[in-house]
Amino acid sequence: MAEMSPPIVRTAAELRARVAGWRAAGERVGLVPTMGALHAGHLSLIRLAKAHAGRAVASLFVNPTQFGPNEDFAAYPRDEARDAELLASVGCDLLYAPGVAEMYPEGASTTVTVVGVSEPLDGAARPGHFAGVATVVAKLLLQCGPDIAVFGEKDYQQLQVIRRMVRDLDIPVEILGAPTARADDGLALSSRNAYLTPAERLAAPELHRALAAAVEQLHAGRPVAEVEAEAIARLVAAGFGPVDYVEVRGALDLARLGPGAARGPARILAAAKLGRARLIDNLAV
Ligand code: PAF
Repeated sequence: MAEMSPPIVRTAAELRARVAGWRAAGERVGLVPTMGALHAGHLSLIRLAKAHAGRAVASLFVNPTQFGPNEDFAAYPRDEARDAELLASVGCDLLYAPGVAEMYPEGASTTVTVVGVSEPLDGAARPGHFAGVATVVAKLLLQCGPDIAVFGEKDYQQLQVIRRMVRDLDIPVEILGAPTARADDGLALSSRNAYLTPAERLAAPELHRALAAAVEQLHAGRPVAEVEAEAIARLVAAGFGPVDYVEVRGALDLARLGPGAARGPARILAAAKLGRARLIDNLAV
């Protein structure tokens, strides 16, 4: 039998009332912000929220302010009924699906900008993207007031931007990063994989393979610049292009690893177009 879809609320006031009810009963709440077009990766975040907090709220809002003028805001896949069914299948307790007027009422004029960590990589390739993300996530956290909020490591830079923002603004929430969910062939699950043609879908796992090979080469002591260049060449040969970046950076601040840089955890991150889809991925080094 199909599970009932979770209750859907569309205003911050209704969301707060539901959360207050759980709080009054001594329950904890986890929030999973999404833009819908849900896949198994999102569902793993809901499971994690439930495991850590008991109650899981998913938000569904295709946030216009994080899309550039030539990006896919209009084309972004939207199917709330299907998303609600998927959320029901993992026991999500509430779906918050506000409209644009609820999130950005007439005259809204405050933007959250996180300097430093949001500037390189996708910050450079997609100007304004992380201000849009930080602003909407700050609003969702303040509207919901969860104990924890869960974000996937697939959007690794986004996760670091949100961690920095929450620290800097003293938002009382614990941010949990969840491992990237992958298809059997290694492709990171993403709503934008829906844009891939069958031939592109066959080529797409090369992004993960190129990063995995790069990690091995780095462990073998090959210089960072050579490893990055080889990964880019491999992606171009597989039909990707343009490749926005393949870069090894500090895992927390995403700073470039110079010859004199302190040793610490590192991350290799990549973004490249494959047909209509812009794919991103990353691995720990
Ligand atoms: O990762 C996403 O889906 C979005 O960037 C987020 C965090 C829901 C903000 O709109």
